[in-house]
Amino acid sequence: MKLPDFYEQVRAEVDAELDRLLPAETLPPPSVHRAMRYSVFAGGKRLRPVLCIEAARVFADKEESLMRAALQAGCAIEFLHTYSLIHDDLPALDNDDLRRGMPTCHRKFGEAHAILAGDALLTLAFECLAKLQVEPRRCVAVLREVASAAGTVNGMIGGQVADIEAEGGRAGQETLEYIHRSKTAALFRATLAAGALCGGADDGDAARMRSFGEFIGWAFQVVDDILDVEESSEALGKTAGKDAAQRKATYPALVGMEASRRAASELLQRALEQLAPFEQGAARLRQLAEFLVARRA
Ligand code: IPE
Ligand code: IPE
Ligand code: MG
Ligand code: MG
Ligand code: MG
Repeated sequence: MKLPDFYEQVRAEVDAELDRLLPAETLPPPSVHRAMRYSVFAGGKRLRPVLCIEAARVFADKEESLMRAALQAGCAIEFLHTYSLIHDDLPALDNDDLRRGMPTCHRKFGEAHAILAGDALLTLAFECLAKLQVEPRRCVAVLREVASAAGTVNGMIGGQVADIEAEGGRAGQETLEYIHRSKTAALFRATLAAGALCGGADDGDAARMRSFGEFIGWAFQVVDDILDVEESSEALGKTAGKDAAQRKATYPALVGMEASRRAASELLQRALEQLAPFEQGAARLRQLAEFLVARRA
C-alpha cells in the first residue's frame, strides 16, 4: 500500500524540526551529539510524529500555534522512540547490527556512546515537551502521558522487560498481549493523546484518541512480528528472522501467520471505530491507520 499523499510533506516538516531541536554536532561533547543525530537521521518512517500532528489537526486545523506545538510534541516522541530503538538493539537486549538500513548505534559508536546517546534522547524529549507553547495544564498533561507511556507500569520499559524475560519460554496469550500493549502500543496511545491535547481536545475526545492509539499501536506490533517472518533484512532495514532465532514471544510464534493477520485487521477495525465521532475530520488518521497495518516495511 502506498503512503498517503500528504505523508511526504508532513515528514519533511518533521525532519526539519528534528534537526532544529537536536544539539549541533559541533557542540561539546560532539561525540554524543554525533551519535544522537546519526540514529535520528538514519531513516525511519516518522509514524509517531505524523500521527501526533494529524491527531491535533482534527481539533486545530487552522490554528498555527497549536499545530506547531503538536509538531514539537511529535518530534519529542520521535526522540524517545529513537532512544528505545538504540537500547533495544544493544547486545544485552536484542543484539542487533542493523537499524534503519544502517549499522546500529553501538556498532558505529561503541556501547558506551550508544547507551549515553539513548539516555540523552530520552532526556531531550522531556526538555522539548516542557517547552511546548500551550496552556500550562495541557503541557503538564502531555508530560504525564508520555512519561507514563515510557515507564514500567503498562509502559514501554515494562514491555521491554517482559519481552526479554519471555525469550525462549512459552509465553501465553496474556503475556503476549501485555508485551505488545506495553512495549509498543503505550507510546502510540501517548502520541495520539498528546496530539489531541496540543490541538485543544476536551478530555473525552483526548481519551478517544488515546484509545485509537492503543489499538493501532497494538496492531502495529503484530504487523512488526509478521514482517520479521515474511520480509528481507534489506526491505526492513533491520535484521529479519530475528524473533524466531531468539525465540521471542510473537504473534506468529504463538498463534501462527493466519491468525496474526486476522488479529491485525481486527485491531485495525477496533481502532477505526474510535474515530467514528470525528467523521470527515479524521480522514487522514484513517488513512494512516490503514497504512500502518498494510505496510511492508
Ligand atoms: C520499530 O518501530 C520498533 C517497534 C515498535 C516495532 P518503527 O517501525 O516505527 O521504526 P522506524 O521509526 O520506522 O525506524
Ligand atoms: C521493540 O520491539 C519495541 C521497542 C520498544 C523498541 P522489537 O524488538 O520487535 O523492535 P524491532 O523489531 O527490533 O524494531
Ligand atoms: Mg526488542
Ligand atoms: Mg528488536
Ligand atoms: Mg520486531
